[in-house]
Amino acid sequence: MIRPKVLVARAIFPETIARLEQHFEVETNQSDESWSKAQLIARLQGKAGAFTTGTERIDAELLDACPDLRICANMAVGYNNFDVDAMTAHGVLATNAPDVLTETTADFGFALLMATARRVTESEHYLRRGEWTKWSYDMFAGSEVHGSTLGIIGMGRIGQGIAKRGAHGFGMKVVYHNRSRLDAALEAECKASYVSKEELLKTADHVVLVVPYSAASHHTIGAAELAQMKPTATLINIARGGIVDDAALAAALRDKRIAAAGLDVFEGEPKVHPDLLKVPNVVLTPHIASATVPTRQAMAGLAVDNLVAYLTRGEAKTPLNPSVLSAARK
Ligand code: GLV
Repeated sequence: MIRPKVLVARAIFPETIARLEQHFEVETNQSDESWSKAQLIARLQGKAGAFTTGTERIDAELLDACPDLRICANMAVGYNNFDVDAMTAHGVLATNAPDVLTETTADFGFALLMATARRVTESEHYLRRGEWTKWSYDMFAGSEVHGSTLGIIGMGRIGQGIAKRGAHGFGMKVVYHNRSRLDAALEAECKASYVSKEELLKTADHVVLVVPYSAASHHTIGAAELAQMKPTATLINIARGGIVDDAALAAALRDKRIAAAGLDVFEGEPKVHPDLLKVPNVVLTPHIASATVPTRQAMAGLAVDNLVAYLTRGEAKTPLNPSVLSAARK
């Protein structure tokens, strides 16, 4: 039997490759070369499946040029690298990797909040520079976390995980804003109250962003929103670059219009706005919110599950455009 061909676009766990090789003829990129779009298109010729990681843009131009492609399995919960409408129009299944990273990502959201509020990295840099010569009463005094008000914009699974950590672990008052309100049972479980975005920005001591990126969520936080926040507030972005206007944020941090920010994602990453690198009151991490070995293994495993299920049985665990599945079955 001829085995379908699959391209793995980025370096990945050897065991992930080994699992794929049980079912497919696999081309890998274990040296993790950065491929241009033309190189990606060239590698995808004859491939029925692609294992992608969130950095490969799958759009109409690529799909037109890759007629054999039937599925792209993203090893990420976010899928703004996929033009899902174009994929559907081309009959290409899109899958993502939800759920398996929820708790790990919520942990990291909280870690970034704590590091930002309590000035962990800023004080560490001071110590490493050899500037710590004596104690002083206000040295790196930060903002309170326990008992403060946590505002979450985007109350999906990860947002709910952060709410529970805040409410149950740190006695925080939790308010949230979301496209749609959670049902009462879920609100009670998260001890969270629904408020308008404006109310959230005005009242929260810590604002955490967990909304998926789309044209509608572009610059959810810009200069106008930063102006509504408390001057003592912190802003945490673990969602996607582009949800925050990074230039406006850098200016607000420089002028102390808000106290601090913690950012795991950036507009145009891996480039970081140069003004963010100049301000001390920001904690910067390189898009690592889901980065624990077991979670990354589970995300890769789910992408493989989707490739195997679709290319061998016409099924999928986490389809984003399930109409492609039903059309394929006809
Ligand atoms: C990471 O950013 C993801 O979407 O999984």
